[in-house]
Amino acid sequence: MSAKTLLKVSGLKVAYGGIQAVKGVDFEVREGELVSLIGSNGAGKTTTMKAITGTLPPLAGDIEFLGKSIKGRGAWDLVSEGLVMVPEGRGVFTRMTITENLQIGAFIRNDKDGIAQDIERVFTTFPRLKERATQLAGTMSGGEQQMLAMGRALMARPKVLLLDEPSMGLSPIMVDKIFEVVQEVYKQGVTILLVEQNASRALQLADRGYVMESGLITMTGEAKVMLSDPKVRAAYLGE
Ligand SMILES: Nc1ncnc2c1ncn2[C@@H]1O[C@H](COP(=O)(O)OP(=O)(O)OP(=O)(O)O)[C@@H](O)[C@H]1O
Ligand SMILES: [Mg+2]
Repeated sequence: MSAKTLLKVSGLKVAYGGIQAVKGVDFEVREGELVSLIGSNGAGKTTTMKAITGTLPPLAGDIEFLGKSIKGRGAWDLVSEGLVMVPEGRGVFTRMTITENLQIGAFIRNDKDGIAQDIERVFTTFPRLKERATQLAGTMSGGEQQMLAMGRALMARPKVLLLDEPSMGLSPIMVDKIFEVVQEVYKQGVTILLVEQNASRALQLADRGYVMESGLITMTGEAKVMLSDPKVRAAYLGE
C-alpha cells in the first residue's frame, strides 16, 4: 500500500521570456516521504520550485496539492494550505530578531498559545536559535540563518516542506549540521521535497530521488538504488 500523494506535478513547463527553463516535468511527493530533486547548476530546479509555490506562472502543465489543482494560486495562499518553501538564499529578515522571524512564519495563524508552543519546539530542534533568540538575524552565520529559515517555515505547520539548496555556500561542518537537521525534521514526520546540487548527501537521506537535467527529469527511482547506479555516480557523485 502506497501512501497518499500530497504533491503532484504533471507536464510542467516554465519559461523566462522565450526561453524554456522547465520543459515538461512530472513528479510526485507522497505523505511522509523525503524526496530529493538533484541536478547541476541551471538544471531548472529553482524554477520548478517557484512554479509550484505560485511565484512563477507555468506555461503548461498542472500542479496538484492535496488532490486539487493549485495552478494560479498565490504563494501566501498556498502557505496557509500547508505548502511552504525555504527559498534558495534563505530569505530571513536580517534586521529582525530570531524570535520575530519565527513569529512571521506563523503569520497565517492566530492561535497564540499554539504559536508559542511551536516556537519552543523549533528551539528544541535548533538549540542554536534559542541561544540567539533576541539577536538580529543578520548577525548570524549562513548556517544559522539556514536553520532560522527552516524554523520559520516549520512555524506555518507545513504539510509539504520545500527546501531549495539548504547546504549552498556553507562550510563542511555546517553542511553536515544542516543535513542532520533536515533528517531530524523528516523524522518528526514532515514530508519534504529537498532540492540539492549535493546529490550524494541528498540521496543518502531520501526515500526517492529525481535527477533533473536541462529542464527535464532524466532519471528517477529509490534513492538507495540511485546512489549505487553507475550513471548517477559518474554524473553527480564525481566518480
Ligand atoms: N529570472 C530569470 N530570467 C531568465 N532566465 C533565468 C532566470 N532564472 C533562471 N533562469 C535560467 O533558467 C535556467 C534554470 O535555472 P534555475 O535557477 O531554475 O536552475 P537551478 O537548477 O535551480 O540551478 P542552481 O543549482 O544553480 O540553483 C537557467 O538556464 C537559468 O539561467
Ligand atoms: Mg537553484
